[in-house]
Amino acid sequence: MPGKFYITTAIDYTNAPPHIGHAYEKIAADAIARYRRLRGDDVFFLTGVDEHGVKIEKVAAAEGVTPAEFVSKITPQFISTWEKLGVQYDRFIRTTDDFHEKAVQGAFKRLVEQGDVEKASYEGLYCAGCEEFKAERDLQDGKCPQHGVAPQPFSEENYVFRLSKYKERLRAHIDAHPAFIAPESRKNEILNLLETFPDVSVSRQKVKWGVPVPGDENQVIYVWIDALLNYVTGIGWGWDQATFDRYWPAEVHLVGKDITKFHCIIWPALLMALEIPLPRQVYGHGWVNVGDQKMSKSLGNVVEPNAIADQYGADALRYYLLREITFGKDGSYTFDAFKKLVNADLANNYGNALNRTLGMLDKNFEGVVPQDVPELTAELKARAAETAEAVEKHMADLAIQESLEAIWGLIDAVNKYIDTQAPWALAKAGETEKLGGVLYGVLEALRCVTILTSPFIPTLSGKMWEQLGLDAALADQRWDALAWGGLKAGSKTRKTGPVYPRIEDELAAQSGGKKK
Ligand code: MSP
Repeated sequence: MPGKFYITTAIDYTNAPPHIGHAYEKIAADAIARYRRLRGDDVFFLTGVDEHGVKIEKVAAAEGVTPAEFVSKITPQFISTWEKLGVQYDRFIRTTDDFHEKAVQGAFKRLVEQGDVEKASYEGLYCAGCEEFKAERDLQDGKCPQHGVAPQPFSEENYVFRLSKYKERLRAHIDAHPAFIAPESRKNEILNLLETFPDVSVSRQKVKWGVPVPGDENQVIYVWIDALLNYVTGIGWGWDQATFDRYWPAEVHLVGKDITKFHCIIWPALLMALEIPLPRQVYGHGWVNVGDQKMSKSLGNVVEPNAIADQYGADALRYYLLREITFGKDGSYTFDAFKKLVNADLANNYGNALNRTLGMLDKNFEGVVPQDVPELTAELKARAAETAEAVEKHMADLAIQESLEAIWGLIDAVNKYIDTQAPWALAKAGETEKLGGVLYGVLEALRCVTILTSPFIPTLSGKMWEQLGLDAALADQRWDALAWGGLKAGSKTRKTGPVYPRIEDELAAQSGGKKK
């Protein structure tokens, strides 16, 4: 039954332009959102940027500009990259948005009034890169393992959130809601952390770039409190109650595994304090590495998604990331693996199935769709229905890779059907009705494939849809469009050539890809 579906991503720090890790998360969220729209849900997809904090303050100072000037150059790069990659969000939030800042201040004021936030002196070791206090046990040789620098001693009179008040309730919630933390493998880590999780310092005296603490302009609100609240302010909390009521609670907060703890501990405790229901799920996806190395500026191996999309198309990158990496686990990007997968699955299997069939249709039927011959197409019809069921089952668990595997299984079945039915031989033998039935079966199965691939590779799916000669927009299709028979006999197809050309070695060499 269709319902509402609210999905969010982490909001990215704007200390540098987007990289492939940021892109991975936004692409995955977009695929899920598009899938839910296809299912008929009332979807809201929120993404955006985290513009405040000491991390940004520092890079801006190093460049000799104000933080506001700095983010005004970086944020548009996120927006244009998501546009290029086909990330179709419903709102892009910036934490400097006026509606957000006001709502954050309102939340802070309420927490102080309620006694959930109190003034206290706070000491610790702070990693600006993580925007987080570190305990000794988090460090390797005295350094933050993620940023490779020693955290700085910190001592200030701050406002502190008494998270301890909510620990028991949170533990009970996690126990009672097995889907709250996903994948399952992240749950124990969170439960262990919760055990000793300290109260949280939620303001900063020395940082200037942030939302001012209401009534105490010497301090700004801690960037993580500011950022987490985007999930509610982004759908109207504090400024558009109707939209907020329509979409909250979120079905999924999609975030990387490194920040799952903020989302599974601080965020729910904050929501409890604000008397807002908790989200259904926090999903901690894995990390995209480059080859077998972690991507980092210091290693100089940061992969930038724009260039890949410009040269090979956004859908090639989308497909690679979604198909290559088991969702929830770490995975890796290499140009060689990318080229191999995209050539095999997009150029060969996906594009060719249609191209060769439309070629035969043009030759034998002037491009006009023939009649279905049910006894000839029953096998493909059953296979298409099974595939739709498999996708439905996998997507309910956000098993994106498995969904794509199932769809490409159908594409393989279509290609095998062509080989065993040998339509070219039927043409030669003058068996026109049978030939028509076989071609109908292939084209109708490919119509179903196109609907199923549309959340993952929307542009290529659109090209395929167009060549099938279908008039209604692909984006307007809903799940029931998968019923066999959508392609009408007598309609005209529009062959324009392969939907995805192979990546050739010469091109790869030009782009800096390594030749084997
Ligand atoms: N600003 C915080 C999030 C606040 S959410 C209320 C932040 N920003 S970030 O820019 O560092 O990371 C944004 C998202 O990108 C996070 O979910 C993070 O896990 C993800 N990734 C960053 N690098 C990544 C990879 N190499 N691979 C996959 N995801 C990665 O954290």
